[in-house]
Amino acid sequence: MTEFVDLWPVFSDPPRHTGMRRLLLPLFTPAAVGRVVAATKESVATTSPGTPGGRVFESVVRPALAAGLARLIGEPPETLAELGDCATRILAVGPSETYEPSVGLDAAKALDELTDHVARRCEAGRGALASALRDAMAEGSLDLRDATAVYAQLVTGALEPAAAAVARLLEALTGPEAEAIDLATDIDPAIDEALRLATPFHLAMRRALTDFTLHDHVVKAEARVILVLVAANRDPRRFADPLTFRLDRTGARHVALGRGRHACLGAALTRHVMRGLVAELAAGGVLDLPPLSVVWNVDFGGRFVQDVVAGQRV
Ligand code: HEM
Repeated sequence: MTEFVDLWPVFSDPPRHTGMRRLLLPLFTPAAVGRVVAATKESVATTSPGTPGGRVFESVVRPALAAGLARLIGEPPETLAELGDCATRILAVGPSETYEPSVGLDAAKALDELTDHVARRCEAGRGALASALRDAMAEGSLDLRDATAVYAQLVTGALEPAAAAVARLLEALTGPEAEAIDLATDIDPAIDEALRLATPFHLAMRRALTDFTLHDHVVKAEARVILVLVAANRDPRRFADPLTFRLDRTGARHVALGRGRHACLGAALTRHVMRGLVAELAAGGVLDLPPLSVVWNVDFGGRFVQDVVAGQRV
């Protein structure tokens, strides 16, 4: 399983990583992003009428994000949940401190199921992702395991972090922070504050290419370096009053979407989707809600949404 996760784009090194990034880039053209935003908004327009405030996140936001991702990768929305389930079972081996045979065996089974699915999709070549992967396999630059790794990362690395950022934004838009937010002018800084405060992925991995010294600590070439994004995003030297939702931040940029060679490929897409989703919710009057609070599930390396409940955060 560790070997499989090492194949994901985000954990790959050049030249393999460069090839994968090149393969994925066409998925994120402005036209493709426009189609994803349209699918997200369409889903909100269909599901939101009559949904009680306390159910907006589960019944409107989550399905809308899934509809957008399904459109992006060319999967039917119904199969996304199954793919997500496979990826979760594979990743379940990661945080256990002791080896659990049943978890390992189930992860192996889930990897087989996911691999079969990807093989079928690539053979059919339907959708932008499957056809790009099919071409890469035909020319020999990727094999089926690599293609499965790309699928697994897109399924696990897109939905849950986006849901976390939207949940934090909904909390801001429905609670006391809302007083300072004018949707007509402040949506972009509000999205960035939601991303910074949520920082769904806490860590980014790198490998040192040469020996170097940082704050008197020597890092040896080839050492694994773990960047703690969540600490950087709460560093009071960079963000005054770091735990407060503020729209007037200038200067330091947050690193919730990473930086550099591995910077999130879905960053611009995520911002467009969040903007479209909020506009559609506001247009449908769905933002005139009682305050919503996020119940977080903070686990090894990440912060994701356990629930979004009616009532003010304490
Ligand atoms: C709020 C939502 C999101 C957050 C917080 C997030 C965060 C991140 C982070 C921290 C990285 C690693 C960056 C680094 O190592 O420097 C990353 C990489 C990546 N993200 Fe996102 N992401 C989000 C949404 C998405 C979406 C919607 C997609 C695609 C549909 C996506 C696709 C990717 C890919 C493919 C990579 C690997 C890039 C590479 O290694 O070159 N992400 N993301």
